[in-house]
Formats: sequence, C-alpha cells, structure tokens
Amino acid sequence: MKGFTIWFTGLSGSGKSTLSRKIEEILLERGLKVEVLDGDVIRTNLSKGLGFSKEDRDINIRRIGFVCHLLTRNDVVAIAAAISPYRAIRDENRKLIGSFVEIYCRCPIDALKKRDPKGLYEKALRGEIKGFTGVDDPYEEPLDAEIVVETDKETVDQSLNKIVKTLEILGHIPPSGKQEYSDEEEEKIKERLRSLGYI
Ligand code: ADX
Repeated sequence: MKGFTIWFTGLSGSGKSTLSRKIEEILLERGLKVEVLDGDVIRTNLSKGLGFSKEDRDINIRRIGFVCHLLTRNDVVAIAAAISPYRAIRDENRKLIGSFVEIYCRCPIDALKKRDPKGLYEKALRGEIKGFTGVDDPYEEPLDAEIVVETDKETVDQSLNKIVKTLEILGHIPPSGKQEYSDEEEEKIKERLRSLGYI
C-alpha cells in the first residue's frame, strides 16, 4: 500500500489523540506501517523548547508536516494529532505531502470546558494560562476537511467507522468487507467526497 497522512486538527481535548491511537491500532491490525505524531509528545522531543506563540506553533506544525512527508513517501501511514490552529500552515503541509486526509475533530468549546481532563481550560479562563487556543487564541476551522467528526455527539466507534470508511472509499486502504456502516451513512460520506471532487 502507498503511504498517506491522516491529519487530525481541533481544539485541545477534542479527541485527536484518542482517535489517532485507535486508528493506529486498526491500521496496524490490517498490516500497515503506522507512525503517530502527537503534539503533546512531539513537544517533549522534536519541538522541545517551543512555546505557543503563532511563530512557535507554525514551526511545530511545519516540523510535524515535514516528518509526515518523509514517512508518507516511504509508504508509512503518518498520523498527526496536533491542534494545528492555522489553516494556511495545514494547507502548506497538505501541498507538501500530497496524499493527505484532514480530519476535523469538532467539539463546542462548552463541552470542552466541561470535559477538561487536564484542567487547562479552567486555568485559561482564570487567566493563569495566556493565549490558550479557543479561549484567547485563535483556531481556524478547516473549510474542506475530508472528514468531520463531531466528538460531542458521536461515540468513539461511530467516529472510527466514519474515518475507516472514508479511507476505504478514497482507496487509501482496502475495503474490509465488513458492513459497519449503514447505506445512508455511507451516502453522506460519498456526498462530502463528491463535493470535494474526489469521486
Ligand atoms: S499546536 O498549536 O502547536 O498545534 P500542540 O497540539 O502541539 O499545539 O499542543 C497542544 C497541547 O499543549 C494542548 O493539548 C495542551 O495540553 C498544551 N498547551 C499548553 N499551553 C497551550 C496553549 N496556550 N494553547 C493550546 N494548548 C496548550
């Protein structure tokens, strides 16, 4: 199989890491080579020392994009899971990588504030963290993501099925033959891919 990049984007706590690890498991089971580049992990090594200014975030996202590019051209499935708040830099990576599937983890800020597993929204709202994405720092939603998962409405399995089905329809992975998706749901995915000019 040819390599490709799955690019998760979305606010902190929106489900990027959870879904990327689950997708990794599914693709490994199907015999693919997979590497996950998680923002929180990358910031402890490849991007250690970078902060959260626009400049530093752009450097971080370009670095992750460059590694995804290297992996993709060596037929590895690269999965990026970073907030990646700026549309222009995500699109720059899309151009560099070519075989690129963007997944927007959409979740309203109120739901994220309630979840808040790391307690970061609470701190940001109290002003203890400045420039927190979605609170007092920008997040630019994707306009043409191949996949949108509504992580406050869908179960993890529903989001995973949507992602796997889309990858199958796009021809990135072979169809499993399992019917995990209703015809109606499959038609919704196809409609989206048609509107993006894929099929
Ligand atoms: S990105 O903007 O450069 O894409 P990245 O995904 O690597 O961000 O890191 C985001 C993680 O850093 C968050 O999940 C959170 O745990 C932590 N974090 C710390 N400060 C901030 C901040 N100001 N804005 C967003 N996330 C922050």
